[in-house]
Formats: sequence, C-alpha cells, structure tokens
Amino acid sequence: MTTSAPAHLAGNFAPVAEELTAHDLPVTGAIPPELTGWYLRNGPNPRDAASSHWFFGDGMIHGVRLEGGRATSYRNRWVRTSTFTDGARVYDERGNRDLAAGAANTHVVRHAGRTLALVESSYPYELDGRRGHELETVGPYDFGGRLTTPMTAHPKTCPVTGELHFFGYGGLSAPYLTYHRADADGELAVSRPIDVPAHTMMHDFHLTRSHVVFMDLPVVFDLDRAVRPGGGMPYAWDPGYGARLGVLRRDDPYGEVRWFAIDPCYVFHSLNAHDEQQAGGERIVLYVARYPHYGSEAGGRAHATLWRWTLDLATGAVAEEQLDDQSCEFPRTDDRLAGLASRYGHVTSAPTPGRPQERAALLRYDLHTGSVARHDFGPGRTPAEAAFAPADDRPGGPGWLLTYVHDAATDRSDLVILNADDLAAAPVATVHLPQRVPCGFHGNWLADC
Ligand SMILES: [Fe+2]
Repeated sequence: MTTSAPAHLAGNFAPVAEELTAHDLPVTGAIPPELTGWYLRNGPNPRDAASSHWFFGDGMIHGVRLEGGRATSYRNRWVRTSTFTDGARVYDERGNRDLAAGAANTHVVRHAGRTLALVESSYPYELDGRRGHELETVGPYDFGGRLTTPMTAHPKTCPVTGELHFFGYGGLSAPYLTYHRADADGELAVSRPIDVPAHTMMHDFHLTRSHVVFMDLPVVFDLDRAVRPGGGMPYAWDPGYGARLGVLRRDDPYGEVRWFAIDPCYVFHSLNAHDEQQAGGERIVLYVARYPHYGSEAGGRAHATLWRWTLDLATGAVAEEQLDDQSCEFPRTDDRLAGLASRYGHVTSAPTPGRPQERAALLRYDLHTGSVARHDFGPGRTPAEAAFAPADDRPGGPGWLLTYVHDAATDRSDLVILNADDLAAAPVATVHLPQRVPCGFHGNWLADC
C-alpha cells in the first residue's frame, strides 16, 4: 500500500490479500483450558484493495480456534456475498433494493444454531460451522423468506427468553424503521414498522428485560450524497432534525412507541441497558459511547465518551450524564447480562485528542463505583474490540477479554487474552497469528455448544 492511500486503506486499515489456514499456533503464556470454541471477528477487507469508505469494504472474518489450552487453528475468509462474487449492488438501476447484496462486514453472531455475518444494509449471510469448513459462506439468510428489510449488525439476544431482537432501517420511503423479533428457535415472530420522520443512520439500539429502545439521531440520509460520484457515506449531520429515544414495551410489540427528546448527538454503540423499579415508578438506564456530533462537518473530529441516559417513565424526564472523559468505542459487556443490570463494561480507548502521551488501551468500567481499570498493550501495539469469554456459568462472573492486537513494529497481529478481573496484569496468553489482522469492527467468542 502506498503512502498516498486514503486513511481508511493505509497502515493497518489496509486489507490483506490472502485467505490462510494455519494450525497449532505459537503461544506465549497459557491459554485457559476452559476456552473451547472460536473467537470470530468481522471487518472490511476490500478484495480489490479499494473502497470509498472504511464502512464499505467486503467483509472478512478472522477466526482463532482454542481447544484444550491450545490455539489449534487460525483462518480468515471473505464473506462471499453476491456483491463479492458477482458485483451485485444494493440498489439496481431502477432504484430497487437487493437485500442479498452488501458487504456483510460488521459483526458475526450466533442464534438458533446459525452463525451469521451482518451488515446493516442487507440480509445476514450464514457461515458454515462444520469442522474443516468453518467460515465458509452458506448464503444469504432471510429467516425462511419472512425477513423483508435489512438487519442491523447489532441484534440483541435476551438471556432470559433466548429471543433475538433486532431492527432494519433505511429506504427512500416510509417505513424507514422496522422492529423484528425471532424466537429462541430462530422463527421470525414479530415484524412491525415504526413511524419515524426520516431515514436516519441507526447503527445500534437497546434491549432491556421489558423494553426495546430505538435511537432516532440527527444523522440523516442525503440523496445528493448518495448519488454523487466517488461514493462515500450518504448521511449528513443535521442537528435541526432533533434527537430522540423511542421506547417500545416487549409485552406489547405492536403497541405505541413512546418518544423521549434528548440533546443532539450521535451514538454508534450501546454498552448495555436495563430497567429499574423505583418507588416513584419505572426507569430505563442506558449506557452509550456518545459523540457530541457526527463526522468532521461540525468543526473537528469528535471522539466518543461513556454516557448514561436515564429515562423516567413516570415523569417523562431524561437525565443525560457523561461518566468519563476518556475516549471510548466498541463498548461490550458479558452478553449473558444483555438487557439486565451489569456491573462491568469494557471499551476500546483511542488516544484522547490533545493527549499525545496516551496510547490505545482497553478500559473496564465498574458501573457501580465508577472506577476504571486499564490495559496498555505497549508501544505501537493497538487493540481492537474485545469480546468477553466467561470462565463459568455465572453471568457477571469471572472470564477473559479476547482482542486482536496489531504490532506496528512487526506489522503482525496477536490474539491477546486478558483476565477481565485483573485487566492491568500481563496477558494470560498471547497467540501469535500468521498474518496481520486489519482494523475491523465486531466479533464474539463462540464457545462450543
Ligand atoms: Fe457497530
């Protein structure tokens, strides 16, 4: 890659050219023998080494299998979407949407026995899980023909019911937003349109035990941007649109959505959310990585920090509180507590603008006490999103954080395993990978069932 490459294709954003399979990877430290499964992570890796935006490159999954205290294999595979295999576009010449076309580059999740690669503009793509065929593409998955919208890359699995809650958004006409729910067996049980004024970029949402909460934020679809030569993001920051959170009761999925106005901002990612019963009534508490604005149009690039929003369902009041000033993204928690009160959340922290002495790090917040633990990976070593891998069957209990770390000096990557309860300590294990893992988005530890 030349030095003239745009930022989203330079350095560790540059794609890798090969799909590799390697076995018995070298390890420093000791992999916990409790970990048996795959760590999978998705991200953009444009096959032709060119894309108009980081968000648009062909999806590639990087996976490491851990078993019996060994890193038994690594493989990376492109998701073979119709866009990858035959150049299909999301919109055809007539403006009709092809929901099987897309990059499938954002997340990889498992539900009802299926492993799905996701991007918010199209259908999921199912991946093969058979031994020796892991990460091979099965094809687009539309819930047996019942899904008729795109699917967010951030669905939420309720740990109580096993349901998968998600949404689809977009389009040139209403409905711009549709809420979906699949049951624990993968049957699409609920699909209902939700009335919003416009097509806004809606990357994530929130689940609690009794509610789902949508974020209608002022990053609005702009047709002029969508059709301009050279591509790029077809959205614009428009604080005049306003910002609001929409609450839907899970026990009345076709009922009214109640909207709460908040200050204009942008949020890609929720950390977690939960319901709280108070003497004065019910509240919903949401933790988010909040940007004061979107993009650079509003004067300088913004960085996200951890915020808490509290919705008082009795009074309609909203409290918006910044909890820390360190930059944060890729917020995650123990997903066995998704939608429930979780004490801990972890994030990836880039150097805060104006603080050149800082390095990228992982942070772990104690949401009860406000304390934060930090893991610094050393000079030139940059972590990605970290996924939580539990040590036992106690939600919120001990476990490990798994993340790919890029080393600028060697231009190689490792899978680093940290003790979540002792984050500042040296890694429990470092698995040395046969090639660089480019900067990417989201993944999961998928323990063997
Ligand atoms: Fe995301």
